[in-house]
Amino acid sequence: MYNKSMKNKILEILNLHFNEYVSGEEICKNLNVSRAAIWKNIKKLQEEGYIIESSTKKGYCLKSIYDPLDENTIQQDLPCFYKKITILKEVDSTNEEMKRLSSSLQEGDILLAECQTKGKGRSGRLFHSPKHNGMYMSIFLKPTFSITQSLKITACTSCAVYDAIKELYNLDASIKWVNDVFIKDKKIAGILCEASLEMNTASLDYMIIGIGLNIHTYEQIEELKTIAASIEDFTDKIVSRNEIIHKILERFYYYYRTINENTFLPIYKQNSYVLNQTIDVYSQNEVYKAKALDIDENAHLLVEKEDGTQVLLNSGEISIRKQKGEKNEI
Ligand code: BTN
Repeated sequence: MYNKSMKNKILEILNLHFNEYVSGEEICKNLNVSRAAIWKNIKKLQEEGYIIESSTKKGYCLKSIYDPLDENTIQQDLPCFYKKITILKEVDSTNEEMKRLSSSLQEGDILLAECQTKGKGRSGRLFHSPKHNGMYMSIFLKPTFSITQSLKITACTSCAVYDAIKELYNLDASIKWVNDVFIKDKKIAGILCEASLEMNTASLDYMIIGIGLNIHTYEQIEELKTIAASIEDFTDKIVSRNEIIHKILERFYYYYRTINENTFLPIYKQNSYVLNQTIDVYSQNEVYKAKALDIDENAHLLVEKEDGTQVLLNSGEISIRKQKGEKNEI
């Protein structure tokens, strides 16, 4: 007989011995059920995406951490700015789902998904969003300020992710203008802000902040292996996804609430991955080499071209030039 609570109990046992084998006999004894029942539940868990290795001699070994998302744990003690937290098992993209639901959403509503089938990155790229290991979250906002200030929201979000990683893991991340978070040259998070404009007044109707963060270690797909990583690739510390999400939301609210005072700016500049670096700027029809000089109070990037002219960037892609012209692009 298959039932949910037995499945969760098996997961709990395997998680206690994460990455080690637990014999079928031990699980049977613990739960007082037959080996066949254990096997049936293990198969179900594997179908759900948990990586569980089985060996006739050694038993079962959980290779991906069991860390369920839970609305109540995330919401506990968060500012009342955050209204409703919804968690989906699967969605194409949390940003797209929020757009579809936008007429019924309130500022501060949160949408999370266990996995995304078409996670969106910037410039039409896909954001790889596998089950159980990451955070795929969208925040719904109704900002009262103008579109020109919207870049600051992306910056505030990067700082919230930076703070959460620092506080919970004591790791130093860095922020690549304007929307990526790195640890040691590997991208661990991306942010995609999308907005709907009120055409008559050119004001913002709503904004959706999408954050994708790789948390638990997992095997990256081939094309991302050299450029992306998870937080846990850099530490032995394991923090629950609920706790990380809670911390990001707490920090994001602080920066968003104080956006007119630019409280994000010192963190954003001090931990910049691009300042003082030689970069390639991809702007509309041209690509040029430049030096990243400064970030202003609107989160715009000041660069100096090779001919000495200075340009203030408010959008566009950049990539860092590493030694011998090698680029670091995602
Ligand atoms: C990037 O790397 O260019 C941005 C990635 C943003 C990914 C997040 S995951 C949650 C939200 N939903 C999406 O489809 N994209 C964002």
